[in-house]
Amino acid sequence: MKGLNLSKIHSLSKSPALFLQASSKQYSTQTSKLGVLHGKKTIITGASRGIGLSIAERFAAEGSSLVLVARNTTSLNKLLSSLPSGPTQGHEIVAGDVGSEDFWTSNFRGRKDVDILVNAAGVTFVSPFLRMGGEKMEAVLRTNLMGTMFGCGAVGRGMLGRRDGCIVNVASLLGMKGGRGSAAYVASKAGVIGFTRALAAELGEKGTRVNVIVPGYIETDMTAAMTPEARSDALDAIPLKRFGEASDIADAAVFLATNKYANNCVLNLDGGLSAV
Ligand SMILES: NC(=O)c1ccc[n+]([C@@H]2O[C@H](COP(=O)([O-])OP(=O)(O)OC[C@H]3O[C@@H](n4cnc5c(N)ncnc54)[C@H](OP(=O)(O)O)[C@@H]3O)[C@@H](O)[C@H]2O)c1
Repeated sequence: MKGLNLSKIHSLSKSPALFLQASSKQYSTQTSKLGVLHGKKTIITGASRGIGLSIAERFAAEGSSLVLVARNTTSLNKLLSSLPSGPTQGHEIVAGDVGSEDFWTSNFRGRKDVDILVNAAGVTFVSPFLRMGGEKMEAVLRTNLMGTMFGCGAVGRGMLGRRDGCIVNVASLLGMKGGRGSAAYVASKAGVIGFTRALAAELGEKGTRVNVIVPGYIETDMTAAMTPEARSDALDAIPLKRFGEASDIADAAVFLATNKYANNCVLNLDGGLSAV
């Protein structure tokens, strides 16, 4: 499916200045504070919901200009109108299917203004493997693994000349542990982790850092679809006894985007689930 490039630059007139208040004194100090991602351009896939949306909000608050990617244009437009922007910070929407190589080549190949790529788009279908048809297997692998690989290929080329590019992939703890009813998803996420490691070696020496976040269970639409029994079993197993928030993953994405020595960092955020 060919991507719909809306290339819509948004220019709200909200001020990027942050106001620091000295509450113990009877005055306030207005300080213009630039975020840690000021001047950066970031492509975020899966930005219409959940983890990708939270990363988009956090990166925009830190001063990055964003290119928001997902299939649902209405959700992307809603997000676009809520993001902070300013004279040097504009945002775009590029709607389409990350699992289509043509989407990436037609919209991003040759683009050299991107500093950071976050691959957060993902899908899952819960089904015993022997009852899962090839069509669903392919959809999961196409979106989660091929979508990440196509994105890194198209955008990674443009990063080569910059020597300070950064790619953050989003895998899953299931990609390390396995789990029932998720064989295709597990295969796709194990692939993302292995792919990230290989790319960290290949692109690292060319100045682009490549890292992967490995979330456990995070409160989003994806986990809202779990059965009550599956949710209760998961909560019992997690040492912290709760699911993570999408903002926890956004914090990790900022860390990986800003820490200049992070390359091949496999960062698990799972409330301790990987320890049991
Ligand atoms: N939630 C968790 O517990 C958890 C745990 C481990 C890993 N993860 C991973 O974290 C990432 C985000 O998950 P989430 O929980 O935020 O999921 P979510 O709430 O279901 O959001 C998925 C996002 O991916 C986009 N997307 C799906 N297929 C796409 C496609 N073919 N092309 C473009 N965009 C597509 C969706 O937008 P459209 O529908 O508009 O296209 C949406 O923005 C995924 O990679 C997921 O596997 C999640």
